[in-house]
Amino acid sequence: MTVSEVDCLSTQGIAKDNLYSYLSDVLLNKDIELHERFRALFTLKNIGGQRSIEIIGQGFDDESALLKHELAYVLGQMKDKAAIPILISVLDNVQEEPMVRHEAAEALGAIGDESSLCILEKYKNDPEKCVSETCEIAIDNIKFETLRNKGISSEGQSSFSSIDPAPSLATKSLEELECLYLDDSRPLFERYRAMFGLRNEGSERAVEILAKGFGDKSELFRHEVAYVFGQMQHPASVPALIKVLDDKNEVGMVRHECAEALGSIATKECYDVLKAYSNDSNRVVRESCLVALDMYEHENSGEFQYANGVNNFNDN
Ligand SMILES: [Fe+2]
Ligand SMILES: [Fe+2]
Repeated sequence: MTVSEVDCLSTQGIAKDNLYSYLSDVLLNKDIELHERFRALFTLKNIGGQRSIEIIGQGFDDESALLKHELAYVLGQMKDKAAIPILISVLDNVQEEPMVRHEAAEALGAIGDESSLCILEKYKNDPEKCVSETCEIAIDNIKFETLRNKGISSEGQSSFSSIDPAPSLATKSLEELECLYLDDSRPLFERYRAMFGLRNEGSERAVEILAKGFGDKSELFRHEVAYVFGQMQHPASVPALIKVLDDKNEVGMVRHECAEALGSIATKECYDVLKAYSNDSNRVVRESCLVALDMYEHENSGEFQYANGVNNFNDN
């Protein structure tokens, strides 16, 4: 039974308990193909609530860093404070893959609750750069959001459905955004704000500017550029994404994000490249290509949703 068939059953009045137990069985079963488990995850995200959060939390006992980082991502996007203790324990586990801990820190920032500041401060000097930099951005984001909630600021509303790690900048010209975006003497939080401003602008010129970010020294920054390209789904970004995926000297976290972006853009050229790297020696890259090929099929199938109630998958 596929997740979309479950969708059908649920609309026919099948008990919600059965739906949860089906989704839990799919998500937590290491023998099921990863793309099916991803679809179950995104269905749980859409259902929401405590029970979904508990099931997603059980998934951290897995060997796939790709799956675990996606669990953390989804918990952040659900923006439910009930997920905070799970995310804290993931970030606090220094044996865990940096890419997963990074995503847990980013998710705490996305939930935006001041109670997470303490753990984020604890790891803002973590030896893993992608973790420490994420904590720094998440701290700035929570402080910004706190001011916004108090009505002191109303900036940075996103035109995309995702909760961004930093609010976009809307009030500047493309040239001003480019300047700030590429200035590595400025805090990452501000540069991310410029990045999301460029994404929202959406033109081919904005894509060209964003692609320059692949030359940045921060791998976290580079992976976010690929993430933004996945959201924009602009064909002009395809050559830059392929170039980075092709680069075996690039870190897995960045190449993985390029693969997912190509799955989301979903042209024939993207398909060929994803097929070619679906046997890559790096597990995160290989698994990302397989999941991205499933996204490609979804994008080209005319299916309305990737999973039950989900319009856009690649928002990590
Ligand atoms: Fe990430
Ligand atoms: Fe990712």
